[in-house]
Amino acid sequence: MVGAGSDQFDDGVLSELRAFRPELGVVLGSGFGGLVSSVREVGACSFSDAELPVSSVPGHVGRLVWGCFAGLRVVMACGRVHLYEGWAARDVTATVRLFAAAGVGSLLLTNAAGRISPRLSVGGLMVLSDHLNLTSVSPLDGAAGFIDMTNAYCPQWRGELLDAAASCGVGVGEGVYACVRGPQYETPAEVRMLGALGADAVGMSTVLEVIEARARGLRVAGVSCLTNVAAGLDGANLDHDEVVAIAGGAGGGLVAVLECWSARRKSG
Ligand code: 6GU
Repeated sequence: MVGAGSDQFDDGVLSELRAFRPELGVVLGSGFGGLVSSVREVGACSFSDAELPVSSVPGHVGRLVWGCFAGLRVVMACGRVHLYEGWAARDVTATVRLFAAAGVGSLLLTNAAGRISPRLSVGGLMVLSDHLNLTSVSPLDGAAGFIDMTNAYCPQWRGELLDAAASCGVGVGEGVYACVRGPQYETPAEVRMLGALGADAVGMSTVLEVIEARARGLRVAGVSCLTNVAAGLDGANLDHDEVVAIAGGAGGGLVAVLECWSARRKSG
């Protein structure tokens, strides 16, 4: 195990989760909260009941739900906390440590992001192939050891998600996600810089959770909803409420992809 400091998760919540034996952990980002309505709920609690940090950002409900989804035992975190709210890197990844402690082996992270690459469609989904951590922090500060980040996003799982999307008719691309600290959106010059660095999309979450998950040996996948064109690439101004609404609309597509992915895995 890695990680400096100790976590004080609620014992009752942790033991309920362990008894449930979740196969998949999911973190639902801005606008994706609607996915929990597809879960046949076995248990639920607030982030504060679980002793997880609570977000103040609209679209981040702060609820933990476990149950059956797409034929799998899942635990879903509806919402997350961000660096830009003033939380430390280790706070941002507390949910991942709780999932790992509960025995979760696979982690799906979702977010809303701005589209940079014209290869990808606005309003569509992007499976993350890799990331740029531009936050300059790590949740592993003070931990011993170096973590391999080659194939941080499981290549097999990525392929399965793309195949599932194709077979159920949901348009999905693949690309590199750049994480910036925020909370301000990028300037047009910053968006041009990110494109030159190899970013296909930009957001303010996910990468620290991926680092934490890889340090704990979890299999990781990431899916972005590309809610808008990143600044300066069209004439529009950016607005968080719009981001949440558009990601909400793409949530149905993600449910379809995950149901299809799970069914194909079970039959194959
Ligand atoms: Cl354009 N930038 C960032 N940093 N996060 C976003 C976004 C843009 N659109 C949705 N989330």
